[in-house]
Amino acid sequence: GWSMETFIPKEIARIREICGDKGQVIGAVSGGVDSSVAAKIMHEAIGDRFHAIMVDNGVLRLDEAKKVKKMLVEDLGVNLTVVDASDLFLDRLKDVEDPEKKRKIIGNTFIEVFEAEAAKIEEACKADTTKGPIEWLLQGTLYPDVIESISFKGPSATIKTHHNVGGLLDNMKLKLIEPLRELFKDEVRALGRLLGIPAHLVGRHPFPGPGLAIRILGPVTREQVKLLQLADEIYIEEIRAAGLYDQISQAFAALLPVKAVGVMGDARTYEQVIALRAVSTEDFMTADWFVFPPQVLKKISSRITNEVRGINRITYDITSKPPGTVEWL
Ligand code: XMP
Repeated sequence: GWSMETFIPKEIARIREICGDKGQVIGAVSGGVDSSVAAKIMHEAIGDRFHAIMVDNGVLRLDEAKKVKKMLVEDLGVNLTVVDASDLFLDRLKDVEDPEKKRKIIGNTFIEVFEAEAAKIEEACKADTTKGPIEWLLQGTLYPDVIESISFKGPSATIKTHHNVGGLLDNMKLKLIEPLRELFKDEVRALGRLLGIPAHLVGRHPFPGPGLAIRILGPVTREQVKLLQLADEIYIEEIRAAGLYDQISQAFAALLPVKAVGVMGDARTYEQVIALRAVSTEDFMTADWFVFPPQVLKKISSRITNEVRGINRITYDITSKPPGTVEWL
């Protein structure tokens, strides 16, 4: 019969069978549950013939690339290259306001950077006679992504995922390898625990591909990214400290392009506004805003305004979906 314990050895055997003993596999990792679990399975199956690539697009959470590298390389032993492409992404995002344009720029730039890195890996493999060519692309596709009618992340996420895969497959002539394609999200989390992936990662809220670019409502600059990263870090830290993280489906801060008047000591301040968002949902198609205990919001507000220079006002988003979306953009 089917069980989590038998799934892993069976899947590892299947991967070894299809990859042969020289074939190389590449795959993008994000620090999310799906790509981390998929990467760990690949590593268990074929070791360093699996090459994980993480693209730092400059709009990730605070120190995310560093944290993911530590987890995947040091804790899990995965063969990972982190590509810092933040300058390229931020340069292309300059002066772009339209949310769909932001998504397109980030999606296309991602493919470009990923392909360039894959080409480097391919070159290095050619120089080594014990290694074959890159033949496979790992995707952390889940069952709900396969049957498009039940999309886990929502329509925009699905469109983006397919967009990425399509581009990579067409240009690089790779075959798809999808170890999670028969699994639901809760099964992937259970698998992650069995594989020794840290608990805080296994239970992590989803994070959109376009990252903080769709949570900064004004111009996306390094300075604005930094402000939002610092505020979001405090917000999530306090949610965890209050023991509420697992009751919330997704929580994040957004940075509004307006300034408000405040006071600090004897001086008047004129600084930006943070909007906090937290929702509970089954499928992200509809969502309720999360009701926090007041003292938790109080602590979060006081910490962000005290610790993040440039923010002097905090609001809490009390909009459900519909009519709101989860993200602001
Ligand atoms: P919305 O804002 O559409 O979000 O209610 C529903 C879920 O989808 C995520 N989301 C995205 N994920 N690329 C992604 O990978 C995107 O462009 C994107 N837009 C929204 C959002 O974070 C939420 O979990």
